[in-house]
Amino acid sequence: MAVSPRIVLSGQNIEKTYLEGKTPLTIFSNLQFELFSSEFVAIVGSSGAGKTTLLNILGGLDKPTSGDVLIGGQNVHRLAERKRCQLRNREIGFVYQFHHLLPEFSALENVVMPVLVGKSMNLKTGRAKAQELLERVGLSERLHHKPAQLSGGERQRVAIARALVNDPSCVLMDEPTGNLDEHTALEVQALMQELIGQFTTSFVVVTHDLHLAKTADRIFRLETGVLKATDKSSF
Ligand SMILES: Nc1ncnc2c1ncn2[C@@H]1O[C@H](COP(=O)(O)OP(=O)(O)OP(=O)(O)O)[C@@H](O)[C@H]1O
Ligand SMILES: [Mg+2]
Repeated sequence: MAVSPRIVLSGQNIEKTYLEGKTPLTIFSNLQFELFSSEFVAIVGSSGAGKTTLLNILGGLDKPTSGDVLIGGQNVHRLAERKRCQLRNREIGFVYQFHHLLPEFSALENVVMPVLVGKSMNLKTGRAKAQELLERVGLSERLHHKPAQLSGGERQRVAIARALVNDPSCVLMDEPTGNLDEHTALEVQALMQELIGQFTTSFVVVTHDLHLAKTADRIFRLETGVLKATDKSSF
């Protein structure tokens, strides 16, 4: 009997409405999303469509106006702050357009940080894991460099290693190559494709890059408040 794939993350009836002044601005409503184990989903859509808003809600960083987000079966926005942070720390890795590395810490220390915060393993194991990940993203010679001593592409590589250090069930990436020049963006994309193929982690990547999107298992387009599965051949 075939085993049905496990859902690692789901959004159910998600609505986000901003109340700026007197006019409410609904970005999306009644939005559904399911992410299965080991899959790679790309989300595309024009600027302002709500991709970052959606990713932040799915990752438990931003609260939906209504609806539920389940991470590993737990209703993330109904958890108390501390439990929500713990769940996020263990189950979700984030990579943003801007690296968000801590400037006063080295590459290695930045990658170890989620281990320290979540106490997911002892520090020695965490450091070994962080070093191994930095080697895998091609930075074995840059372990002790601070973010200011790294190039833009190298900083994103560190951010990717950091997102993976706690073996999360999914990694959410918001235009991870959007702030890089074309050549560096292609290099980081190639690295992402390689890692996506190697890890059992699921990946959701918001991207404007159609070549990268095309390599996903499923592509969604977010437009005028609707998240629609998109046929790859239409790219
Ligand atoms: N804190 C906020 N208050 C009010 N409106 C907001 C807030 N944050 C985002 N918005 C609005 O929500 C909409 C979606 O923003 P979002 O950043 O999610 O878009 P996006 O699809 O990620 O765009 P981009 O491709 O440019 O990153 C935009 O119209 C934006 O102005
Ligand atoms: Mg965005």
